[in-house]
Amino acid sequence: MDLAGKKIVLGMTGGIACYKVAELTRSLTRAGATVHVVMTRSATQFITPVTMQALSGHPVFSDQWDARIDNNMAHIDLTRGADAIVIAPCSADFMSKLAHGGCDDLLSTLCVARPMTVPLLVAPAMNVEMWQNPATQRNVAQLREDGIAILGPDAGEQACGETGMGRMLEPEQLLEEVIASFQRKLLAGKRVLVTAGPTFEPIDPVRGITNLSSGKMGYAIARAAREAGADVCLVSGPTALQTPYGVHRISVQTAQQMHDVVMSQAAGQDVFIAVAAVADWRVANASEQKLKKNGAGDVPRLEFEQNPDILAAVAQLPARPYCVGFAAESENLLQYGEEKRQKKGIPLLVGNIGHQTFGKDENELVLFDDRGHQRLPRAGKQVLARRLVAEIAGRI
Ligand code: C5P
Repeated sequence: MDLAGKKIVLGMTGGIACYKVAELTRSLTRAGATVHVVMTRSATQFITPVTMQALSGHPVFSDQWDARIDNNMAHIDLTRGADAIVIAPCSADFMSKLAHGGCDDLLSTLCVARPMTVPLLVAPAMNVEMWQNPATQRNVAQLREDGIAILGPDAGEQACGETGMGRMLEPEQLLEEVIASFQRKLLAGKRVLVTAGPTFEPIDPVRGITNLSSGKMGYAIARAAREAGADVCLVSGPTALQTPYGVHRISVQTAQQMHDVVMSQAAGQDVFIAVAAVADWRVANASEQKLKKNGAGDVPRLEFEQNPDILAAVAQLPARPYCVGFAAESENLLQYGEEKRQKKGIPLLVGNIGHQTFGKDENELVLFDDRGHQRLPRAGKQVLARRLVAEIAGRI
């Protein structure tokens, strides 16, 4: 559980996005966090404290003079021992208060009274004109300068019927951001390029050759690199996975397209992690039209030609990034792993222990570099991805 043992104060201010914070509260608690909800009076107009109490499993506070806290100092009591304060939704008015240090209710007072070691994350939610208003933008800039993390907002359709910037991030995106805020920024300022998923090599317009890669490991690595502060570009073959929040994804189908996109993105990257299961061969005589059965029972004859080796191509660039490859071998991984690392000319190769990793949520890895090999024991792919990112960060 990504938030096990974390105590989060979840502050809610007035905005229709309050209804989404009910879902966020569930996601935070499911991820292991203890959530204490504090609502402004306006927030209670949008969703009741009863709902938030039921979902968080803890009493909800909104009044500065609430006598339920022994010493009657809710603003102090709630923030001591907190690992983060998240304000969602954060109204334009509340951002203004935060920017100026105003404290005229419980939530604003506890933000000002928080120890500076407690990170404050705010998720703005407001009408597009309110967001674009120069006063709001001044406040956003001030909050950033004060070290407050601004999560979103997103652009799109708004509850008021207008369209534009100001939508609060979706609950699952906010969850990703909260989890990310607890990760060490080991790759801050670095650019990381990742390939993931299978490729699809057409036979004709409706048929093709692919493999069982789900993309889970590559997506987990892209997410872990972003959590570590990197600017991440993910070049992905066809998968059903959601793009990790904050990651720039470029979708491709064939190995050749993946190669071309990777080569166009390679300049200026600090790290290249090739996780994709790239088809070694493509159909040389793919048909422009759908192949038809004929009465005589003839079967099509497919011819193959070699696809470019993307990893080897990047590893040969004069200004190459730090290159990391993957290997899924069914046998002799220790021998083949090191051989593959040398053949590809890369400093780090990651072997999947057992070749049955495709589509699974867990994995076990072995890292090969010029000092030998080292195991990363069995764990969920996201946990392993974070460990791998830490290993890479330690090497660059
Ligand atoms: O040679 P092999 O396919 O076993 O190597 C696997 C590694 O090389 C993986 O990191 C994979 O993403 C990468 N690769 C590639 N382009 C290919 C084939 C593999 O980047 N055409």
